[in-house]
Amino acid sequence: MRKKIVIGNWKMNNDSFETKTLLNKLKKYDFKNDVTIMVSPSFTNLQNSVIYLNDSKIEVIAQNVNESEKGAFTGEVSSSMLKSIGVLRSIIGHSERRLYYNETDNILKKKIYNALKNELKIIFCFGEKISDRKNNQQFELVNNQLSNTLLDLNKSDWENIILAYEPVWAIGTGENATPKQVQEMHFHVRNWVKINYGSKISNTVPILYGGSVKPNNASEIFSQPDVDGGLIGGASLNHNDFIEIINSF
Ligand code: PGA
Repeated sequence: MRKKIVIGNWKMNNDSFETKTLLNKLKKYDFKNDVTIMVSPSFTNLQNSVIYLNDSKIEVIAQNVNESEKGAFTGEVSSSMLKSIGVLRSIIGHSERRLYYNETDNILKKKIYNALKNELKIIFCFGEKISDRKNNQQFELVNNQLSNTLLDLNKSDWENIILAYEPVWAIGTGENATPKQVQEMHFHVRNWVKINYGSKISNTVPILYGGSVKPNNASEIFSQPDVDGGLIGGASLNHNDFIEIINSF
């Protein structure tokens, strides 16, 4: 059975005080289900969050990581820096990084390989734009994104990878993909993994959906057979909404 996972991507929100307040509410809540919960605060709040959640089952992850080991890269953060403060996983390839910071498939491939080489686990995001979907090219586009970045991995790397399908048109727009559209794409992605890495890996790799997941649509999306959870942006900033989404499984 695959793990159920819900991740809160806080993006550039929550200062130190707000981070602690939100973590405190999540930490106090007695989650009854077996969902793996992760939160992704900004770089400045990672270390405090790790310390604060020390005795909790909630994992703290990074939103981004640099593709190099170390060196003259002003403003950047490396895999080993994250690991040294107890952050063992990072999101890579979020569409906002692709769009606003010009992170191409080529750069993302370097990020993926460098992170895994340094034993930092990853959540790799991908997904089509509205123009791709209008032209019915979403499957081709996602195939390209996966093939450009994930084709040269070792089979053992897959133990440290979570995939996240995030159609760009559904992120922060309030317009979520329909459960049918989500299932279709997740099936397609799982099949891509099967073709390239075999069914043992395709049956176990978690595939999350992200894009306007809210308390009122989470349970239908999460109940699709190839959906293993969600990457939640806006709704993860409100503890009640985030808890309700986690409890939607
Ligand atoms: P959203 O963001 O839930 O606010 O649409 C999702 C994401 O960017 O991961």
